[in-house]
Amino acid sequence: MGGNPFFPLDEMGFDTEEKQTLLIPKVDKEIYEQRRRMVGTVVDYKEMRMRYSCAIKEVRTKFDVLNSEFNVRFRRNPITSINSRLKSSSSIMEKLNRKGLAFTVENVENNLYDVAGIRVVCSYVDDIYGLAGALAKQDDITVIREKDYIKNPKPNGYRSYHMIVSVPVFFSDQTREMTVEVQIRTIAMDFWASLEHQLKYKQEVPNQREIVQRLTTCAEQIALIDEQMCQVRQQIECSEDMPSEEEILLEKLRKIDIAVGE
Ligand code: GTP
Ligand code: MG
Repeated sequence: MGGNPFFPLDEMGFDTEEKQTLLIPKVDKEIYEQRRRMVGTVVDYKEMRMRYSCAIKEVRTKFDVLNSEFNVRFRRNPITSINSRLKSSSSIMEKLNRKGLAFTVENVENNLYDVAGIRVVCSYVDDIYGLAGALAKQDDITVIREKDYIKNPKPNGYRSYHMIVSVPVFFSDQTREMTVEVQIRTIAMDFWASLEHQLKYKQEVPNQREIVQRLTTCAEQIALIDEQMCQVRQQIECSEDMPSEEEILLEKLRKIDIAVGE
């Protein structure tokens, strides 16, 4: 009979409860306090992430609503996809480090605006401005910052419409204003940004300068195509014949069908 080496057996061969209790090391009060504080910090951090993830849901729903409304009114979806992400803990720590700030919940909430991020992808450039405007004018949305990288592209050719917004999130015992970074771009801009992003994460790419140059040229061509696609769509819409009263009535009925359950 081997038994547990940490709980020696008594003369009868049993490790009694009394003996086990005596052998457990006493937890120092200070260590206990330290552990309690650490657990508290972990819980606070987890709650903070939960709050950001709820803020994403709030803003995402706003875009879903705008998309549904647009679908019913104009029979087309301005949004082709919505993606969201919560900044990873390591990226949060790196960004706070860069700003010379300690890793605390207060510092994250007061200094980082991109913990919660939403990317909205549209087919046409004019929809980007339509959606940005519709979001900005909602009563519960406060626009903290806007960057129009479409009118003012980055030197590498990056184009996208960026907004930092604040949205109230209602919890059981409190309401919190949470910041969310919103990026709105066309499919083509998104296509470009994902390839350019790949380049950033590659080390020592041969012909890096040439690739950067080619990407910048692609970005310019994409911008031209985006503009033309938008104009062609507008032209098609304008050239549509004026419908008869009968057609308007039938169209309205069709829209009612589309609206239900979507
Ligand atoms: P960060 O500190 O990196 O968040 O930058 P910032 O606070 O100056 O914000 P900015 O609006 O310039 O960029 C925020 C985000 O936009 C980035 O995290 C990327 O997702 C995206 N972005 C900005 N510039 C580029 C770029 O040149 N290429 C790509 N692929 N994405 C970009
Ligand atoms: Mg960022």
